[in-house]
Amino acid sequence: MELSDKGKPAIDILQNIEGFIGYSENNIPKLHKGKSRSLILTELEDRLKIDLNYSSGKVLGAMTTPPHDFARYIYTRFIDRNLGDRGLNPGTAAIEKEVIEMLGNLLGDPFVDGNITSGGTEANIIAMLLTKQINSDIKEPSIVIPESAHYSFDKAAILMGLKVKRARLLPNFHLDLNHYESLIDDNTIALVGILGTSALGLIDPIEKIGKLAGKYNKYFHVDAAFGGLVVPFMEELGYKFSPYNLKIHEICSYTVDPHKMGMSVNPSGSLLVKNSNVNSFKFEIPYLAGGAFSSYNILGTRPGASAISFWGLMQFMGKQGFVENVRHCLENTYYLRDQIEEISQLKIATEPDMNVLGIQLTSKANMSLDKFNSLLRQKGWALGVFKQWNLLRTVMMPHIRKSHIDEFLKDVKAIF
Ligand SMILES: Cc1ncc(COP(=O)(O)O)c(C=O)c1O
Repeated sequence: MELSDKGKPAIDILQNIEGFIGYSENNIPKLHKGKSRSLILTELEDRLKIDLNYSSGKVLGAMTTPPHDFARYIYTRFIDRNLGDRGLNPGTAAIEKEVIEMLGNLLGDPFVDGNITSGGTEANIIAMLLTKQINSDIKEPSIVIPESAHYSFDKAAILMGLKVKRARLLPNFHLDLNHYESLIDDNTIALVGILGTSALGLIDPIEKIGKLAGKYNKYFHVDAAFGGLVVPFMEELGYKFSPYNLKIHEICSYTVDPHKMGMSVNPSGSLLVKNSNVNSFKFEIPYLAGGAFSSYNILGTRPGASAISFWGLMQFMGKQGFVENVRHCLENTYYLRDQIEEISQLKIATEPDMNVLGIQLTSKANMSLDKFNSLLRQKGWALGVFKQWNLLRTVMMPHIRKSHIDEFLKDVKAIF
């Protein structure tokens, strides 16, 4: 997309939101006195009614879910903690470190460094920034990513002037590893693998990409924003995977998002960094009231409550709590898959690796994907749309119940 195209729709959207112009009379200069809390809350309840709510089950295609009650409680209780001035919050900083270590432990290596981030986008951008700095001698740096990689790598590339080389997918949407290897050259500064792709939740051959990273001596980043808090618990449920974890010594950094399948509050991502040589590329902030410190983050001020609430949630749920949560999500995924296979106008895009299921139309549907999606939207269903692969994404997040799936299927059948 042209950059000039990108800014315009945002303005159009704002102008099209019903009441947007009307509410502008409430701007601060015109408000001589404040309003009462109850009036404001009533107004907010009213205005926010148009937002979709998770309990309806209609948010069927997002990688977000309502934060766990306990995480929400902790977050509001410690909302004033700022990890951007760590010296003022040494208790919060220690908790952040423990969260990173617990995540590392879960993924096979407790000796990781890292930071809580605002989400997967920030973590992926930082990883690319680290390798850009490590490889500062390369004049025309490029990164090799699967075609299925998240947009955050494109953002990183725009910000840092990186060339993006995309490896093709096979017809089953898994990575074509031969094509991937053919894209690696002297200018490559990063190899990226994904544990839970955005469109289909698929797992790249992490161990094999690790071997390529070793063979060509490249920085290897794993984007496990979604799958990092799914796959470790699937193993506990008896699913077998080829090795993917931090024990693969070629892995340099890892993205894992507590605000996706970790059921924590927004914003909560994390970057785990394995290679201690990159420590020197942390940003040093010298002037703060709490004293100088360094971190990998792009953000300055950042919510300490993100780290604290996920720490509390992990203590509360224990590994077994997360395992049960993943079990619930997977059962729904397989239930939906089996039901879709009974509808002749639909097919699954590929066998799911985790709780993400892609749906495609068959020729019997006699309808375009756009049309099908807009009919679903009219009925209130919000699915992800991946036009490039002609598929709709469903994500069986913790808030989805079997009854929601049944309602969805009823609406789908009524369309055909
Ligand atoms: C695989 C993957 N990586 C990164 C991201 C970006 O995460 P965030 O939206 O938290 O920035 C996403 C978002 O869905 C994702 O699916």
